[in-house]
Amino acid sequence: MTKIVAANFKTNHTKKTTKSYLESLEKKLLASDKIYIFPTPIALCENNFKHLKVGTQNAYPILNGAFTGEVGLESLKELDIKTILIGHSERRNILGESQKFCAEKFDFFAKEDFEIIYCVGEDISIREKGVENVKKFIKTQFENIPVQYPKLIIAYEPIWAIGSGMSASAEQIQQTHSFIKEISPAPVLYGGSVNIKNIAEILNIQEVDGVLVGSASLNIDSFYKIIQEARNK
Ligand code: 13P
Repeated sequence: MTKIVAANFKTNHTKKTTKSYLESLEKKLLASDKIYIFPTPIALCENNFKHLKVGTQNAYPILNGAFTGEVGLESLKELDIKTILIGHSERRNILGESQKFCAEKFDFFAKEDFEIIYCVGEDISIREKGVENVKKFIKTQFENIPVQYPKLIIAYEPIWAIGSGMSASAEQIQQTHSFIKEISPAPVLYGGSVNIKNIAEILNIQEVDGVLVGSASLNIDSFYKIIQEARNK
């Protein structure tokens, strides 16, 4: 089974460079690939590609209204975007999104039948206190989340591994994914310093259903190498 490969561009790439990236990538893809791209909001474009899905990194749980700087459902509908990232650690920690708000967002977009990539992951202080502590923390990130939602994909992204160049070890990934799989039947992606050097090892872990890639997705050649590794895993 081909594994899922998702790219989170975060605050990188412009409207122009995103457009050319998507068009070039689309030409390389096969019907069996499972690819998601999350461009920065201003670069969001029509989700009308055959072999890849364009999703939004964020949106406000509202059709439209007075929420300065936020993107509403109405704009996403116009672009036919039906996939959203919720709970990314950068939104939880930098933008101050609480578990309660993540759950509200989840509820809103689930009612709209969105595919939801829901992110969880502990910081280094929790990891240093041991596995049981990690499990306890991750459980709190599922509070009020309907874990049986059929269009749910979970991403396990330990904060200390994001952008650090140091991914979690195979054992840590295996252990945490197994725990998450006890909570939900959804596929579980791993994210945190995934790159062309470690992708094969990560995808070989049975409990890994795919990857959510940040920095290594920004260059199309390196991202395509990751996609190639994911085929027939
Ligand atoms: P990096 O791949 O840059 O570590 O980012 C991971 C991530 O946060 C994807 O959502």
